[in-house]
Amino acid sequence: MRDLDNSSLGQDAAEYAVPADLAAMRVDYGVAHFGSGDDTDLDETWLAGGWEPLLRHWIEQATAVGIAEPNAMVLATVTVAGGTPRPVARTVLCKGLSSEGVTFYTNYDSAKGMQLAEVPFAAATFLWAALGRQVHLRGAVERASAESTAVYWRSRPRESQLGAWASQQSRPIASRAELDAALAATTERFAEVDDIPVPPHWGGYLLRPDEIEFWQGRRSRLHNRVRVRVAEGRQVVDRLQP
Ligand SMILES: Cc1cc2nc3c(=O)[nH]c(=O)nc-3n(C[C@H](O)[C@H](O)[C@H](O)COP(=O)(O)O)c2cc1C
Repeated sequence: MRDLDNSSLGQDAAEYAVPADLAAMRVDYGVAHFGSGDDTDLDETWLAGGWEPLLRHWIEQATAVGIAEPNAMVLATVTVAGGTPRPVARTVLCKGLSSEGVTFYTNYDSAKGMQLAEVPFAAATFLWAALGRQVHLRGAVERASAESTAVYWRSRPRESQLGAWASQQSRPIASRAELDAALAATTERFAEVDDIPVPPHWGGYLLRPDEIEFWQGRRSRLHNRVRVRVAEGRQVVDRLQP
């Protein structure tokens, strides 16, 4: 596939033309989804052990049925630039999961990094459409410790480390060629360095959810929604209407 660039926007329409009747697209949830074996109704008892084991289990099941990037989550932050607060959303990968929360890694100087510095709260949504499942979390966000960032950094392939140094994430750049040149310069800069250090502008964030909702698609749009609210170490579980 060709690289997306700013001169070809809109020109691919013919190449990808598939009649798409958006209004007619409809999935009947709750009937054997891709071998998930999930014909039991999600209920409050599934949360008895806390939200984290169930989220982990759902990620594992998504992995088992071959869903691509089962740890991808859409992360929403808030921008206050321009006065009126506005939501901003994009996908990141969940790289850590514990009863404390979910961890993702990014550039601290990126748009989302700036937004989190101003408003340290976020919402994250996992969607596994093939399983008819969604999990939504929201809560306060803090930077991960330098130690845990360093541990994850060392696990990344060298190319990804070079990319993190080369890219000033979220800033405009004139062309693909300029980006390739930035990577070449970074590769040259670290040519003699075995262990590339963590860039000062890069690291993890921990989203500590105070609200987590598990959603399971069901027939007749009567989906199951179970919400957990966490406050002072206690959890309150409610069923919500679909
Ligand atoms: C499947 C997928 C996974 C992604 N994972 C990450 C990630 O873990 N960290 C990250 O910084 N960006 C990731 N991105 C890119 C982001 O969606 C986004 O383009 C980038 O972080 C810049 O966002 P911002 O300008 O809002 O800060 C991912 C994109 C996709 C499609």
